[in-house]
Amino acid sequence: MSKATTTVRDGSSPAAAEYLLGSSCAERERLLAQCELLRPASASLLDTIPLPPIARVLDLGCGPLGILDLLSERVGPAGSVTGLDTDHRMIGWARESVTELALGNVEVRHQALPPPAAAEARYDLAHCRLLLINTTRPRRILNSMAASVRAGGWVAVQEFDWATWQCDPPHPAWSRLKDLLAGVFGGDVHIGARLPGLVREAGLTDIRTSAHAYYWQPGDRYQTLLLSFARLFRDRLLRHTTLTSEELDSLTSTLHNHLGQPHTTVRESLLVQVRARKR
Ligand SMILES: C[S@@+](CC[C@H](N)C(=O)[O-])C[C@H]1O[C@@H](n2cnc3c(N)ncnc32)[C@H](O)[C@@H]1O
Repeated sequence: MSKATTTVRDGSSPAAAEYLLGSSCAERERLLAQCELLRPASASLLDTIPLPPIARVLDLGCGPLGILDLLSERVGPAGSVTGLDTDHRMIGWARESVTELALGNVEVRHQALPPPAAAEARYDLAHCRLLLINTTRPRRILNSMAASVRAGGWVAVQEFDWATWQCDPPHPAWSRLKDLLAGVFGGDVHIGARLPGLVREAGLTDIRTSAHAYYWQPGDRYQTLLLSFARLFRDRLLRHTTLTSEELDSLTSTLHNHLGQPHTTVRESLLVQVRARKR
């Protein structure tokens, strides 16, 4: 086993259990669609990171694709991209993506990053997207990412901040459901706002922060994402809040009607990007 990674045993990893959105086919499809949506923003982040001609890079929590394809273009044919994920179904799907897209310089592994003390500083860039928002251990993950890059190498992170996630016209059902979901989501839904401070705490320098915003109209798939999350988290909402199932049904149906009005616009969570360098 490589020193730089820690094998995850199927079904036994607390880290694997942590991703509460699960690894259903619907989640795979949602993540792949999101890869398309976020592709230009992710490419613009990579534009700010000078990599050597033959680069070694990591996409942590790559899911069914992550930014493996974008990284593949940038490391050069002799470079290498490693995708890691703690969910074995995600890794199976990532392998399918690698084959379909003929990404010859990409390998994916069902593994977690080791703790900082056990890391081998081998990568020119360690990246993660929408990983920290789903975890209760963002500092530990960032420390491991920082430890896994060589001196002079880069860490890049992209995470949402739910603060900007609003509908217009506003509606109390939106605010109530969003607040309830934030409480059961599993990670800090405002982690995007904390990224510059978190990477600084991880000992990184030369920090550059940027952000991207998206707006949705009725008919756009992401306009109703809050309702999709309410369906996915239904059991947790009923278990961990005072909502009864009738109240939850009434809340979601009221919001469904509001979002279906011809002029209801949704402003998406802010996608915050940070890139920083290891001394
Ligand atoms: C929201 S998905 C994002 C996938 C991908 N980065 C993207 O942007 O499309 C989060 C992924 O992180 C994985 N994950 C969660 N905790 C992890 C950890 N500690 N180490 C590696 N992967 C993890 C999950 O299995 C899931 O595939």
